[in-house]
Formats: sequence, C-alpha cells, structure tokens
Amino acid sequence: MARGALLFAAMLVMAVALLACNAAGDGEGAQASPGDPPSNRAAAIPTATPPPTEEPAPEVDPSVQAADASDPLLVAQGDILYQHYCASCHGVDLEGQANWRRRDENGFLPAPPHDASGHTWHHPDQLLFDVTKYGTTAVVGRGYKSTMIGFEEQLSDAEIWAVLSFIKSQWPPKIQAAQPK
Ligand code: HEC
Repeated sequence: MARGALLFAAMLVMAVALLACNAAGDGEGAQASPGDPPSNRAAAIPTATPPPTEEPAPEVDPSVQAADASDPLLVAQGDILYQHYCASCHGVDLEGQANWRRRDENGFLPAPPHDASGHTWHHPDQLLFDVTKYGTTAVVGRGYKSTMIGFEEQLSDAEIWAVLSFIKSQWPPKIQAAQPK
C-alpha cells in the first residue's frame, strides 16, 4: 500500500518532468493549432516491428541494472538491439523523425532524435528506462497520446539498459556530463 503510493508519487514526478520538458519545447509550439499548415509528412505511423536482420540477438548479462556508456560490450549489444527495436522510428543514426517538435494532424509527436540534438539527454537514466519499458502514455498518464509504446514484452530490463548504454555512448562527453542523474 505504502509502496504503491510511493510508486505513484514517483511516476507523477516523472510525468511532470517529462511534460515540462515537452512544454519547454523550442518555441515551435508543442500543440498543433487549427491554423497550422497541413503536415507534408507521410500520414503512416511507423510501427515497432523489428526490421529483418541477419544479426543474432545479443545475450545481455541479466544482472545488468544500469546504463554504462563506457562498457564496450554493453554498448555493442545495445547497438544491435537499438537497430532492431528503435531505429525504425528514432533513426539508424539516432536522428529522429522530421519536424519532431510538431504534433501531427492526429495529435501525435514524431519520434525525437536520441543524439545530442534531441532532449533525451535532458532526462535521468531512470526516466529513460521507464519510458522505454512502459511507454510514454503510461509514464505521463492522463490519457496522453503517444506512439512510443513500452517494450516490456520484447526487452528484458538488462536489454533496455544495454540500449540506453548505446544511446548514451553516442553523446559527446560534454552532453554525457550534463545529463541529470
Ligand atoms: C513506433 C515508433 C517508435 C519506436 C519503435 C520507438 N520509439 Fe521511442 N518514441 C517514439 C515517439 C513518437 C516518442 C515521443 C513520444 C511523445 O513524447 O509523445 C518517443 C520517445 C522516446 C523517449 C523519450 C525521449 C524524450 O526526450 O522525452 C525515449 C527515451 C524513447 N522513445 C526510447 C525508445 C527506445 C529505447 C526504443 C527502442 C527500444 C524506442 N524508443 C522505440 C516512437 C518510437
């Protein structure tokens, strides 16, 4: 009971942090308004279906419980998993989708970049883990609409930490140091 309340409070804090970050946006208006020109992006919402690949799934040590961008094995394993599960939306080079700050006609945000140009690095590891595991809708709550599904069914906790290790390893040292803990 007490643990449930604590967990709920923690989720709330993270949701607020996430929203604040989105709202802080970059002036480009996080919310689409009726006067907005129609988006010229394809209407199709990409799916999380992993692309066919020859690469065998890596065996991530199940005892891994944190991201470590300085662990070459973890980073290499995370790279393979990232290309399987994340690249279709977040880009092969972590570049994200075009106009990622602008909601589409259905109110969904495109996938943001995970490189230094995005705002992934504005969030602590635990929040990135929760978004990856449970999805943005679950973390933000209140019916927030998002195509960022949770990967709870597809990836183990250790595999999620491997993917995050890979993402973090792509940030310049300055950005790695600036990421909130
Ligand atoms: C179907 C497309 C899709 C796939 C596949 C996908 N994402 Fe996302 N992701 C999104 C979208 C869209 C957002 C923005 C959600 C929002 O704020 O509404 C997002 C947001 C995120 C965020 C929050 C970033 C921030 O700065 O707030 C993280 C972290 C993330 N994704 C990690 C991952 C990881 C790791 C994978 C692979 C395991 C992955 N995503 C796969 C679409 C996708």
